[in-house]
Amino acid sequence: MAIVYVLNGPNLNLLGTREPEIYGHDTLDDIAGQLEDRARELGLEVDIRQSNHEGHLVDWLHEAQAHDAKAVLLNAGAFTHTSIAVHDAIKAIRTPVIEIHLSNPHIRESFRHVSYVGRAARGTIAGFGALSYLLALEAAARF
Ligand code: DQA
Repeated sequence: MAIVYVLNGPNLNLLGTREPEIYGHDTLDDIAGQLEDRARELGLEVDIRQSNHEGHLVDWLHEAQAHDAKAVLLNAGAFTHTSIAVHDAIKAIRTPVIEIHLSNPHIRESFRHVSYVGRAARGTIAGFGALSYLLALEAAARF
C-alpha cells in the first residue's frame, strides 16, 4: 500500500491548547485520526510524526524517499520561515512535498511571509485549519 508521510515541526505537539483562536481546537491526535480515516478510504497508509528538532525533519524527508513514499505532507511550523536545511532536503529528494499550514501565514506577521519550504514544495495548502491536512492528502492521492 502506498505510504504518505505527514511531518510536523515545532510546537505542533501543543495543538489544541496552543493559540486555539489561530490554530483551532483539534489536537495533533485528532488530525491524525481524521487523516487515518480518509487515508483508509483512499487506499493509502499515513505515517504521522512530529518533532521540535529541525534535523529530525531533514532525516525524515530523506527517509521518505528511501522508503519510496508517495508524497510528504509537511507542516514545518516556524522552520518554514527559517530553515534552508529543510528547503535543501526537499530539493534533494524526488518525493513530492506538499507544504501545509493550519493558519494563513500571508495574513499574519511579516516574518511569516517568507517560506523556504514553499520555495521547494510541489504546492501549498494553508488557512483551512485541520482541513488543510485533508486537502493535502486528497492532492497526494492523485499523484
Ligand atoms: C504554522 C504557521 C507557522 O507560521 C507557525 O510558526 C506554526 C504553525 C501553521 O500551521 O499555521 O508553527 O505552520
